[in-house]
Amino acid sequence: ESAERGGFEHFMMKEIHEQPAAIRNTIGSLVTNGRLDLAKIGIEEEVISSFTGITIVACGSAWHVGMAAQYVIEDIARVPVRVELASEFRYRNPLLDPNNLVIVISQSGETADTLAALREAKSRGNKTLAIVNVVGSSIAREADYVIYTVAGPEISVATTKAYSCQLVVSFLLAMEFALVRGQIDKETYDSYLSEVSRIPDCIQKILDDKERIQWFAAKIANSKDVFFIGRGIDYAIGLEGSLKLKEISYIHSEAYAAGELKHGTISLIEDGTLVIGVLCQDGLYEKTVSNMVECKSRGAYLMALAPYGKYDVEDIADFVTYVPKMDPHFIGSLAVVPLQLLGYYVSVARGLDVDKPRNLAKSVTVE
Ligand code: G6P
Repeated sequence: ESAERGGFEHFMMKEIHEQPAAIRNTIGSLVTNGRLDLAKIGIEEEVISSFTGITIVACGSAWHVGMAAQYVIEDIARVPVRVELASEFRYRNPLLDPNNLVIVISQSGETADTLAALREAKSRGNKTLAIVNVVGSSIAREADYVIYTVAGPEISVATTKAYSCQLVVSFLLAMEFALVRGQIDKETYDSYLSEVSRIPDCIQKILDDKERIQWFAAKIANSKDVFFIGRGIDYAIGLEGSLKLKEISYIHSEAYAAGELKHGTISLIEDGTLVIGVLCQDGLYEKTVSNMVECKSRGAYLMALAPYGKYDVEDIADFVTYVPKMDPHFIGSLAVVPLQLLGYYVSVARGLDVDKPRNLAKSVTVE
């Protein structure tokens, strides 16, 4: 089994390291001559220009991709996006506009609730697009259109590379929708694509510096509660960072939209409570920093996650980790990586079964 793990101690670490290649392969399989290859997906331009909104349905980390995609698609393509948990969607008799494109996201392509949601959407006559990793899986077979992530087999229960590939696919879709629907010109499209193409190398840089996160993880491994805060895409990344930490380390953690702190979580901050601020959205940076200061004045211990150059955050944070600068639409692909590493190293420091956390399954085929 050690050979299968490619020299890494756990599948999760191997898969974290496979992210640059997985993303490169996913982009390579979908982009032809500088454009998302719609013919390959079998989706007609007419479908893209005619839908009036998008409903994204998924579970778990795939739902977190939807949360991030919502911000990116709405901002770039100016199409209303709604993101739904599959287990809710299927039971609430949704008022689904027949002109909505329904996008389902699933690594396994077998998650029972997501499959049921897909069937529900199809039965109402909506066009469905699936973003799936496992070739020939039920969701891939039943959706009208399929985009495959090329992450390769993912063994660790906690997803990393499949999540990252799904996120990049959502960026490519946002750009393509925007161009086809006349919201951006080709020059802007090209500049977005060149940013997205930088993601693999930038992730590699973060991985090369992973020991700093390992050091910090050992320091905070006995935390009881951890809070992730951020706004916009940073909030969506916080949701995933929080899930990574809690699912494999069994430390209670929550992600909060930073502006909501004063409506709840701030009452839970005690002396030494770890608060992790995700600060990668330029326009929202100051706002979230001020929320972190509010936590600090109530005794919180602060970690900040910011792009290189935002060094003034060191004045307030106890530990800072930096990611390369990138267009804020896409920087979430970088911001998530230190949080995956943090979850991993905390789990290892606590001596837990990283790849097979208790009570969880890789693919949930029951409801
Ligand atoms: C399970 C896994 C999660 C995953 C979710 C959705 O709960 O433990 O990591 O995000 O299912 O799985 P899917 O295969 O549909 O992406």
